[in-house]
Amino acid sequence: MDNKVNLAVVGIGYWGSKLIREYADIGTSRDDFKLAALCDADAQRLNQAKGNTLKGYSDYKDLMKDHSINAVHIAVPNTDHYKVAKEALLAGKHVLLEKPLCYSAEEAKELCEIAKQKNLVFKAGLIFRFANSLNFLKQVIRSNKHFDRIYFSRFTWEFSRKPMPNVSIIWDLMPHLIDMFLYVNDIKDGDVKIDKLQGSFRRQDKSELADIKLRIGDEDAIFRISWFSSHKTRLIEVFGEKDGKDVSIQLDIITQEMKYIVNDEDGVKDTKIEGFYANNTIKDEAENFIHAIQTGTNDKNNAEDSLLGLEIIRKIEGS
Ligand SMILES: NC(=O)c1ccc[n+]([C@@H]2O[C@H](COP(=O)([O-])OP(=O)(O)OC[C@H]3O[C@@H](n4cnc5c(N)ncnc54)[C@H](O)[C@@H]3O)[C@@H](O)[C@H]2O)c1
Repeated sequence: MDNKVNLAVVGIGYWGSKLIREYADIGTSRDDFKLAALCDADAQRLNQAKGNTLKGYSDYKDLMKDHSINAVHIAVPNTDHYKVAKEALLAGKHVLLEKPLCYSAEEAKELCEIAKQKNLVFKAGLIFRFANSLNFLKQVIRSNKHFDRIYFSRFTWEFSRKPMPNVSIIWDLMPHLIDMFLYVNDIKDGDVKIDKLQGSFRRQDKSELADIKLRIGDEDAIFRISWFSSHKTRLIEVFGEKDGKDVSIQLDIITQEMKYIVNDEDGVKDTKIEGFYANNTIKDEAENFIHAIQTGTNDKNNAEDSLLGLEIIRKIEGS
């Protein structure tokens, strides 16, 4: 079969382990796809994970020389995204690179250019684009049934964790949240205005929490992200008005429940919005990557789709 995809996962830590599980599972039921190799700089971790059936590489440069591998899903730390992805693309491999694509828009654009010149699929790990709940929210806010006018969206992402070494919470969480905001509202460009408050407490630099107000074109969003929280919250809220009343939609990403909330003189009433089911987004993203390679399509999470989000994050960090 000449359109067979032989894939390697590069970086098999927290996220890479989840990817391995899904790709291995997909491989059991298909002849046209195989999880063929793993790569990790930590030789002990690599040996434990690869078992007897997978090839293993502790140096990503050696993996890139293996012509039997034609696709890689890269989940190494952010600092190494650019160099590992560049090596892969130059070696002619299709790439799915985790978020944030790179730390600079220039580097990200350079990778997109190499992919284009070599006619390779190049995708970004914008996993929430595969969530049924988010796609349903996108339809709901477009339907005119719930809103005459939308005021703003609010994204709250809080939980408790130790600071991620050398990474600001902004680079860790905001790529997802900004992307969800841009994706749901179909925003492709516009002037960007940012107000922010951010801080770190357990270390000197690199933020551990932030409140950010973003205006792009005439769309507004508020983001609250924090690694200090007594409970885990992942909430998207859209506020607006309908028939003269204040209304909102609330999507709880953890419970996958969506509510429509109407605030009138009789008080606050909420109704559950049904019509979607919670899906396995990692598997759907993986299958979409394989499909893109086999059909030459590159929709949904094309790497170029993440460039605007990247520029906004750079602005947040610089403002
Ligand atoms: N899409 C999502 O929802 C999501 C969730 C979590 C993490 N991520 C992304 O996945 C990436 C990895 O995050 P993580 O939390 O799994 O990190 P991690 O530290 O748990 O794992 C990273 C792994 O990469 C290996 N590694 C480091 N440098 C390498 C190199 N040059 N070559 C080969 N292996 C190397 C490390 O040994 C480690 O095993 C990050 O970019 C992160 O933003 C995405």
